[in-house]
Amino acid sequence: MHKRPLGNTGIDIVPLVFGGNVFGWTIDEKTSFAVLDAFVDHGFNAIDTADVYSAWADGNKGGESETIIGRWLKARPGAREKVAIFTKVGADMGQGNKGLSGAYIPKALDASLARLGTDHIDLYFSHWPDPQTPYAETLSAYDAALKAGKIRSVGASNLDAAQLQESLKVAKEQGLPAYQVLQPEYNLYDRASFDGALRETCIDNTIGVVTYYSLASGFLSGKYRSKADLSQSKRGEKVGKYLDQRGLALLEVLDGVAADHGAKPAEVALAWLIAREGVTAPIASATSVAQVESFARAATLKLSAAQVKALSEA
Ligand SMILES: NC(=O)c1ccc[n+]([C@@H]2O[C@H](COP(=O)([O-])OP(=O)(O)OC[C@H]3O[C@@H](n4cnc5c(N)ncnc54)[C@H](OP(=O)(O)O)[C@@H]3O)[C@@H](O)[C@H]2O)c1
Repeated sequence: MHKRPLGNTGIDIVPLVFGGNVFGWTIDEKTSFAVLDAFVDHGFNAIDTADVYSAWADGNKGGESETIIGRWLKARPGAREKVAIFTKVGADMGQGNKGLSGAYIPKALDASLARLGTDHIDLYFSHWPDPQTPYAETLSAYDAALKAGKIRSVGASNLDAAQLQESLKVAKEQGLPAYQVLQPEYNLYDRASFDGALRETCIDNTIGVVTYYSLASGFLSGKYRSKADLSQSKRGEKVGKYLDQRGLALLEVLDGVAADHGAKPAEVALAWLIAREGVTAPIASATSVAQVESFARAATLKLSAAQVKALSEA
């Protein structure tokens, strides 16, 4: 499949990144391995996770997702060379460890490397902004990790335009590594926080963009049409907020475009993101091999200009 450069990282990716928050949450290790095998067999080459995934699931403490990915890499000789691994640091999900301080990052990074069973992370993200820590301190910690070869590039998630611009300014002024990739929430339903100044900043600075909640937690697959449908998945409760007039109108347009292509609504929703100016690749997760097959169809689906317009205006 056709690869795209991910900003200035030097990493080329097929435009769909696997979202690793399902490992140890909605799918167990056996299904996780099957889904990852299918993903790589289709030619995809990037996986996103975080040190805290999937701490919110009953009985978990965080680290389960990286651990499952590490066990899969170990069980599949040659797989590490085929996939770029993205992980994140700094989110607080109740473990007490958090933030982007110069003291915390090296410890968190070593723990992630150990769970992943690898000597380097291809792209290391600041998970959430940390108002207590100056950008220079965080970027200095990344500078040291880059020089040590433990990470190959850096990104940030959940920054607004002013925060991203400030971080770029500090990097330039102090000769520190600048964020090369942004990971914002963005999908057909939730567009307000990325469209506008943030998207323009990324385009102007050749910053790669990988979007999260690309399927609005599964809502854009069209499988939730009423409150009664929410019990279909463990994550159904996250989807209720989309079941409003706007969400249902959006599904109607998605259904129409999907029917034109003999495709599924989820495939069209991902193809719209892949076609969107400023987006390098959507991140999406899957809980079955069939859903991964949909990713492969999405990555090759060509929407017409009229279809893109209809979806963008929905
Ligand atoms: N940076 C951040 O702060 C942040 C925050 C959240 C997420 N993320 C990243 O973004 C990734 C994606 O987010 P997400 O997994 O929460 O949401 P998502 O990608 O919007 O939704 C994916 C879910 O939708 C369902 N689905 C996928 N394909 C489908 C299909 N063809 N038909 C029907 N249902 C389908 C699956 O769940 P079911 O089968 O269970 O319904 C799947 O787990 C995460 O894994 C994580 O890597 C980052």
